[in-house]
Amino acid sequence: MTRIATLPKAELHLHVEGTLEPELAFALAARNGVDLGFADVDALRAGYEFDDLQSFLDLYYACMTVLRERRDFAELATAYLERAHVDGVQHAELFFDPQVHAANGVAIDDVIDGLLDALRDAAGRFGMSGGLILCFVRDQSVDSAAATLEAVAHRAGDLLGVGLDSAEVGYPPALFAGVFARAAELGLHRVAHAGEEGPPAYVVEALDALGAERIDHGIRSIEDPALLARLAASGVPLTVCPLSNVRLRAAPTIGEHPLRRLLAAGVQVTINSDDPAYFGGYVADNYRAVADAFALDDDELARLAAASVRASFAAPERKRELLDAVQAWRAAR
Ligand code: HPA
Ligand code: ZN
Repeated sequence: MTRIATLPKAELHLHVEGTLEPELAFALAARNGVDLGFADVDALRAGYEFDDLQSFLDLYYACMTVLRERRDFAELATAYLERAHVDGVQHAELFFDPQVHAANGVAIDDVIDGLLDALRDAAGRFGMSGGLILCFVRDQSVDSAAATLEAVAHRAGDLLGVGLDSAEVGYPPALFAGVFARAAELGLHRVAHAGEEGPPAYVVEALDALGAERIDHGIRSIEDPALLARLAASGVPLTVCPLSNVRLRAAPTIGEHPLRRLLAAGVQVTINSDDPAYFGGYVADNYRAVADAFALDDDELARLAAASVRASFAAPERKRELLDAVQAWRAAR
């Protein structure tokens, strides 16, 4: 069990706002004079019962109102990176939702600078690498996404890439084709949530219309054999989040999760935590859950970790270093 925490890994599907633990939410609410609308930490935690993606998003966006200043974002990300370090994460790519923070009156530069402060600190303390992926919330307008991208264009060098998240069904990826084309022009990587609640056709659209280099979730690809074959042949990875999928009822149980079948189809699968403060586990808990449910052995676990490194946007020499570390873990029995 502890071996999973020492397995060197990359985390690629992690919403930094989804790492906001109730204790920190209350501390920031008090410091910033925000009323969270819950009596205490226990009352808030008791609200973590979700029927679907939207029921989660409602609470998630409410809690985000406590984040106001650059130091809030630095403290949030530092708490996550410390926790991730304990779980063997050596490279972390953090999603963030600037449009939601802007609506809360926060300057986008404060969000980016606070998160970069934390990444720099983790690089110094733990030797961790990583970066930021700016996500457009698909239930806001395309114009808003385009304006957000232009607002950060001058600091594209501070970002790894762009993504697409929030409510999926009814917001097909192709809506954002122009915004993603502009992101590509700016030299940014492109990823997108698709096939979490939405149909496999949304995964196809994310590939064709957005040029997505990774698909976040993508689990409903299991319903489309041609898409599975395409994912396997192209090597486009899925960033799968098993505990999230069960909590948001995208999979009935861990045992019925399509992970094993995706692997058997030859798809590059990575394991991630999505919103660990809300879904009952950080990344090592997600590895443990699937290791138990599918009796994964060390070879299979090492393959998942190696896939996470290869699927990352780390520099080639960093990938080599981390792949060597995975091999060393595998060799040490
Ligand atoms: N799906 C879509 N949007 C999100 C998620 C998710 O799982 N988590 C945070 N924003
Ligand atoms: Zn997500």
